[in-house]
Amino acid sequence: MLQTPTRHLHFIDNEPTAAENGESIPVVDPSDGTVFAQIARGSAHDIERAVGAARRAFDGAWGRQTALERGRVLQRWSDLIEAQREELAVLEARDTGKPITQARADATALARYLEFYGGAADKFHGETLPYQSGYTVLTIREPHGVTGHIIPWNYPMQIFGRSVGAALAVGNACVVKPAEDACLSLLRAAELAVEAGLPAGALNIVTGFGPEAGAALSAHPGIDHISFTGSPLTGKLVAQAAAVHHCPVTLELGGKSPQIVFADADLDAALPVLTNAIIQNCGQTCSAGSRVLIERSLYGALLERLAERFGALRAGPAMADLELGPLISDKQRTRVRDFLAKAESGGIRTVAQGSIVGEAPSQGFYLPATLLADVPTDHLVAQEEVFGPVLAAIPFDDEDEAVRIANGTPYGLVAGIWTRDGGRQLRMARRVRAGQVFVNNYGAGGGVELPFGGFKHSGYGREKGFEALYGFTALKTIAIRHG
Ligand code: NAI
Ligand code: MG
Repeated sequence: MLQTPTRHLHFIDNEPTAAENGESIPVVDPSDGTVFAQIARGSAHDIERAVGAARRAFDGAWGRQTALERGRVLQRWSDLIEAQREELAVLEARDTGKPITQARADATALARYLEFYGGAADKFHGETLPYQSGYTVLTIREPHGVTGHIIPWNYPMQIFGRSVGAALAVGNACVVKPAEDACLSLLRAAELAVEAGLPAGALNIVTGFGPEAGAALSAHPGIDHISFTGSPLTGKLVAQAAAVHHCPVTLELGGKSPQIVFADADLDAALPVLTNAIIQNCGQTCSAGSRVLIERSLYGALLERLAERFGALRAGPAMADLELGPLISDKQRTRVRDFLAKAESGGIRTVAQGSIVGEAPSQGFYLPATLLADVPTDHLVAQEEVFGPVLAAIPFDDEDEAVRIANGTPYGLVAGIWTRDGGRQLRMARRVRAGQVFVNNYGAGGGVELPFGGFKHSGYGREKGFEALYGFTALKTIAIRHG
């Protein structure tokens, strides 16, 4: 059945708002390649309007709300998201191709972020400091003002939740630029914010392409803080544009995260986690465990068990809810295929490959899961973020070598360590350069409560948890001389 694609507008000042240029971008379903919606193609003009609306909210109704009131709005919004979870999940599954169970988990995570930050809003405060006699000195944490949020397509609801939830909790007004490949769930979530009582202008969403709407947002002098999640190259462009007007930036730029397995590990516990850490969201996860480092005495045996699992992994349409959906776009599939071609021409061994199920439409962007073995540590697939369902297995001989390999990439986002030896757990956790370290488990980014962010080229600044509230505020010191 041929359906007329639905048209989605920007969300500015609590209203659907057409793009000034009247242009739109087709929205493609990665599961079957069909166009099912249109989004507005934002330009600098639309960003201007959104920043203006946010500034008015910050100087007006939103800026005047107490922490308690802000917290309650976020909590009501959280309840509405939870109530509409299925609708949001179906929308997300269609827009991104992710299996419906993962989309549901993302909607729940969005609700949970809003609940967490709603609860935190009135529990965040400054200090009183010792100083010279006759003085009282106190600090207060103030919102930056208007914050910009550039969101990638891999986890729109989660990344929006962690970033906008924290920014709003402490009183900022937000302008969001979602990825052109995945906007729909956020536009729907914004409608629910109105129902929850969020004043007009506190949250604005401008859809569009990165070099147009995204670049205009990063360069806008009315933006007081930018939070960006995406590729290292785009992160650099955003930080450069922001630097022109001395705008602070938080960058989360992905990784090449190692899962380090020692011979004494509990393999039954490790195996499903090792696999899931890379195939979740079809490998399109900044914190994907994309390298498995295995102690040599275990290498052959573990590789065999991993190969068995990889061989059984199926890719299919989002609503079929298999282990893998399609990749987000044909462009992303081409990118992953290029990495695989380079692995092959580099003589790297493919030890197992999953399948694409028969009912998967041929126009969808499917790619089977792939397990590569004996990957040289300096090869591209051991160094760079593939952002696809590709796991690189690498043997190591001892702790020192494991640390060297683990730290031997430009990134440092997450690490997993599998061992029963308590001393080694702590030694390794301390030596690995990563923003999050999981021992005998692996959380792609971990829970809502856990601070998250990178070392090295994985970025700087921390989001999630209570820690994020510091990043979304500026500290003011007030020194009172009273004699
Ligand atoms: P990207 O980094 O270009 O896109 C992320 C966001 O930035 C999107 O909203 C995009 O519209 C925006 N953007 C793009 N160019 C911009 C500019 N000049 N100024 C401001 N904003 C801009 O990533 P892309 O092209 O979608 O994917 C390329 C690769 O990046 C992926 O294959 C993957 O390796 C990596 N990536 C990493 C992510 C992560 O979570 N670490 C998320 C998305 C992509
Ligand atoms: Mg899409």
